[in-house]
Amino acid sequence: MRKPVVLITGASGEIGHGLIERLAEEGSHTLVTLDVRELPAELKPKVHRAIVGSIVDKAILDRILAEFEVDLIFHLAALLSTRGEFTPLAAHQVNVEGTLNLLEFAQRQGETHGRPVVFVYPSSIAVYGLPDLATKAAAGRVAEEQFLAPITMYGCNKLYCEHLGRYYARHYRQLAAEPLAGKVDFRCVRFPGLISAVTLPSGGTSDFAPEMIHAAAKGEAYACFVRPDTQIPFMAMPDGVEALIALAKAPRESLRQTVYNVGAFAPTAEEIRNLVLEAFPHAQISYKVDTKRQAIVDSWPADVEDAAARSQWGFAPQFDLASAFGNYLIPTIRARYRKP
Ligand code: SER
Repeated sequence: MRKPVVLITGASGEIGHGLIERLAEEGSHTLVTLDVRELPAELKPKVHRAIVGSIVDKAILDRILAEFEVDLIFHLAALLSTRGEFTPLAAHQVNVEGTLNLLEFAQRQGETHGRPVVFVYPSSIAVYGLPDLATKAAAGRVAEEQFLAPITMYGCNKLYCEHLGRYYARHYRQLAAEPLAGKVDFRCVRFPGLISAVTLPSGGTSDFAPEMIHAAAKGEAYACFVRPDTQIPFMAMPDGVEALIALAKAPRESLRQTVYNVGAFAPTAEEIRNLVLEAFPHAQISYKVDTKRQAIVDSWPADVEDAAARSQWGFAPQFDLASAFGNYLIPTIRARYRKP
């Protein structure tokens, strides 16, 4: 008998950290994780098996298939947008080929145990590509189907994998004699920038917000790499984690699309700086604009329209900008860096 488990890829990353904590609290899941990096020590007791390996290694996926019965996958592994511009081929390999391997894995799982495998996939505001700042200002809250001309390798990868997921869910091998589609129940959220109080991102372009907050708490000076007026949507990590879980649990019949925007608040860099300065009045936060990274953030929407997520599966973020800072980020970060 194979053991029924939830599989989490990219488990050692920021979202994985929050998701494992949260699923372990629920207590009803047996978790198997896969990441090229060792799972952080504090998370190891919370999972059944922590596999160190890559999603591009099909032999590892075959071994997981032989040993475990997977009904739910959170496929979090990815190289983010800044990192991807330095190593575009590696980004494509991990973000696209890795996702394709996982979709095939889910298809095989579904075929062997006979139930659809719920495949939860975080996409990103990086799938958007607004041509200029005037268009970005005029567009305001951008809907799922607008401005899909990403300028980063990461954004292209995420957008293509949204389509791959839809293909596996609805059209897989559509010319075969026997119907094979429907084994992968693909569900995707497009995340805004995520801000965690307990971990720091690496390799993203929305990183200026979390970096600014964590630097101030550590008493380090920070030079923000985008202009003060730069605006993109953000979300507190606990709401990001809740969104993944709510989407995974939503009844299939209530989901009328495969891809959903989710948003919570959309501050400018200067608004974030002011909130950080309120909490840490001695923080030294300056601006040193990196025009190339700025161009990437300028191509992302100022905010997203997420009405479909709210009405179809009950997405409802707990934190707005004020409460994200006042009730989550600042108290948790203060505790994290408090000198013993
Ligand atoms: N946070 C991501 C990045 O900056 C966007 O999904 O790449």
